[in-house]
Amino acid sequence: MPFGLGPTPLTYKIAPMSDNFAANFESPSPERLSFWAEQANQLAWHKPFTKTLDWSNPPFAKWFEDGQINASYNCLDRHVLGGKGDKTAILFEGEPGDTQTYTYSELLAETKKAANALLDLGIVAGDRVAIYMPMIPETVIAMLAVARIGAVHSVVFGGFSADSLRSRIFDAGAKLVITADGGFRKGKAHPIKEAVDHALQDNSCPSIEHILVVQRTNSDVALSDKDIWWHEALAKAAPEHEAVGFDSEHPLFILYTSGTTGKPKGILHTTGGYLTGASYTHRTVFDLKSETDVYWCTADVGWITGHSYVVYGPLANGVTQVIYEGTPDSPNFERWWEIIAKYKVSIFYTAPTAIRTFMKVGRAVVDGHNLSSLRILGSVGEPINPEAWQWYHEVVGGSKCEIVDTWWQTETGSIMISPVPHTMKTKPGSAQRALPGITIGIVDENGSPVISSAEGSEAGYLTIDQPWPSMLRGVWGDPERFIETYWSRFPGKYFAGDGARFDEDGDIWLLGRIDDVIKVSGHRLSTAEIESALVEHHWVAEAAVVGAKDEITEQAVVAFVILRQDELGDAPNEEEIGKVLRSWVTEKIGAIARPRQIMVVSELPKTRSGKIMRRLLKDVAEGRPVGDTTTLADSSVMKAINDKLHNGATD
Ligand code: PRX
Repeated sequence: MPFGLGPTPLTYKIAPMSDNFAANFESPSPERLSFWAEQANQLAWHKPFTKTLDWSNPPFAKWFEDGQINASYNCLDRHVLGGKGDKTAILFEGEPGDTQTYTYSELLAETKKAANALLDLGIVAGDRVAIYMPMIPETVIAMLAVARIGAVHSVVFGGFSADSLRSRIFDAGAKLVITADGGFRKGKAHPIKEAVDHALQDNSCPSIEHILVVQRTNSDVALSDKDIWWHEALAKAAPEHEAVGFDSEHPLFILYTSGTTGKPKGILHTTGGYLTGASYTHRTVFDLKSETDVYWCTADVGWITGHSYVVYGPLANGVTQVIYEGTPDSPNFERWWEIIAKYKVSIFYTAPTAIRTFMKVGRAVVDGHNLSSLRILGSVGEPINPEAWQWYHEVVGGSKCEIVDTWWQTETGSIMISPVPHTMKTKPGSAQRALPGITIGIVDENGSPVISSAEGSEAGYLTIDQPWPSMLRGVWGDPERFIETYWSRFPGKYFAGDGARFDEDGDIWLLGRIDDVIKVSGHRLSTAEIESALVEHHWVAEAAVVGAKDEITEQAVVAFVILRQDELGDAPNEEEIGKVLRSWVTEKIGAIARPRQIMVVSELPKTRSGKIMRRLLKDVAEGRPVGDTTTLADSSVMKAINDKLHNGATD
């Protein structure tokens, strides 16, 4: 099956780098390769592979290249054919309290119909399909149906705005959007289809041929001639569908994530390697006992955690898992703990932000529930501070569960650094060790490994030093950006964008992003993206955004804006302007990017070469004395900003 079908073909022919460039890359040892081959062979291959890795043209890796595989078959058919058809795959809990259960046979039957419905709509292997949905079983079915026919899904988080959805559909050249009339959130039916209509208005995404709409909230939605009800399409579709194998390197999905520029990157993952990474890490990190475990990962499938640890990892491993539609506080903060007790969840995977929120609410909401079924607790998305780790351990885990703090990224596809339960003593606040099969390094500014001694090491930059099966294969439509962003900073190594250090035991401590990517409640945002949203408003001449420390969300968005006096007209006062601009960002990107605070300033601190010094703005936003201002073109700027400190508008 060829690559790059469709309007934005992936070109794998890059202008050759210097000869040295390729020579910098390490090749994995034969032992390492047989380790990965062994993991891959736990999957069902339509055609077995004979070559484990082609690393002759780094950083373009080909894993299990001559093998053929179908991701959906591995998540469904394989289990049903293996006699596990009656096993529960999904225990769905809707926010209003409705429930639904799918066995593996039932999930397969629905996925087959959905796959046929897609084929009936003319979707073929290689086509991109956007998925913009709430957290309901149909979302998982949609992803598996797309993968089943070799099409490429691009799931867009349901909390992103219509504008964000539009740019992602456009960039991927998607032919179809799968969406829902709405979803339940915080006690209300939330419209979703409306945002799709808005995104597609004026034929702004001409590649879209149809929109499949799942009925979830029974809300009134206007259907155009391109819209088709999901249930009607599935009712008409043939029930049988035989999954064929696709080349291991066939694209499985694109997932957009924020980088250091204003434009999100479409991270590309391919089939065999990704599925190997997701399933291997899921069974290893969570010490999976697939016959008895009940697993629950609270992530939305709009993020990589939902892809790897709600859909592909758990289903490839044949577990029973909980999927919950709503927020942790609906109708109150007891909800998650009720769900764990009700379904006897044994493995629970969530983000530190959630833990810190519950810490603030107080342990009483947790204590009233029987959580004795829990045995493994996972954390992901941002560093977990030792206090939150302890609270998770004692209050949620009853001091008897193993905690796995898992470090990874959209780009890595699966967990890279984590303790492996029962093999090492865990340590509050440290993700500890590279998983077997992964080589992690920490280097200084010049790319030399930091020296680790009995006292630990200096802080440095985290790198991954050898290829791994679930590594990203590219940035959709932009191979140069792929090389530049990840493989150029430290030749021969994957540069993650995170700071890290070793402690005295050689364990790894993650220190957060060192670039202009920020983490708000575990969600990844780019300061540049928020800045470009702000300057799109006619009041704003210039904007600088920083991530300021936040007790609950880890970081919060704080924006500094210079207003265009000529455009203000009868604009309200600064506080009102702040409110308007915060809503503007919500509309442009989504509620997750809404600034906590907007400060109106008359100038921004810049170096003589015109670069905004965000470090100084971060000092102001975090209430610290402002650091060294000697490189500023005009050092009085920071004094003026500081003097205004208390005038910013906040929620
Ligand atoms: O900064 C790191 C942080 O999240 C970034 C990746 O974000 P994203 O691609 O959205 O994926 C999140 C879910 C895997 C990383 O560069 N990060 C993720 N996990 C941890 C973490 N930081 C510290 N500790 C972690 N466990």
